[in-house]
Amino acid sequence: MSRFAFLRVAAASVAVSGLMSNPSPSIAQQSSCYKAEYTSDGELVLPKHFERWIYVGSPLTPNALNNGHAGFPEYHNVYIEPCSYDEYKRTGSFPEGTILFKELQLTLPKEEADGSRVEPSGRGFFPGKLNGADVTVKDTARYTSTGGWGYFNFNHHEPKAATATVRPKSECAYCHMASAKKDEVWTQFYPRLDD
Ligand code: HEC
Repeated sequence: MSRFAFLRVAAASVAVSGLMSNPSPSIAQQSSCYKAEYTSDGELVLPKHFERWIYVGSPLTPNALNNGHAGFPEYHNVYIEPCSYDEYKRTGSFPEGTILFKELQLTLPKEEADGSRVEPSGRGFFPGKLNGADVTVKDTARYTSTGGWGYFNFNHHEPKAATATVRPKSECAYCHMASAKKDEVWTQFYPRLDD
């Protein structure tokens, strides 16, 4: 083994032992179920490790296709809490405690008038900076006025807020209640949830 290779191995073992003391659990270490956490004054805490949840889809409404002013000009990357997903697949209903996490992600800057750009794979839209998040939590006892789901916004920019206040029906739930396919969730856009 060259001296350089030996140093690399030594560095790797330091990195591994460093990881083991890291407070953020690995996928294997963490319990796969996550329950909503609230502050003492009832604000929802930004769900932890949502990026390791089950990914279900990415609707996209770019500015260039919405007269330059899309309400949400980003990819809407949607994740569901893994234990809720298992239960949903088993029963066909979203269980109490289900959390859906919609992370917003801007497209890379445009090169063409329609908002697209050209990359080695072709002309299209490509994911860029993260840009805040919206979250829904199913709790039929807590959110009676909005059909059993609580609606939260964790900023429409980065960094995401650490906590968020529940939004009134007139701001979020009315639209989900009117047109989402199943129990206020837009399962029509997520083939993995649209059984
Ligand atoms: C005018 C209609 C409308 C309003 C108002 C609205 N939404 Fe939605 N929401 C949608 C649509 C349509 C989708 C799915 C397609 C997409 O993301 O573009 C969606 C998707 C979501 C999702 C992903 C999970 C799911 O249900 O499909 C979350 C989370 C969410 N919205 C939260 C919110 C929050 C929080 C608010 C208020 C701050 C809000 N929404 C207001 C229409 C709406």
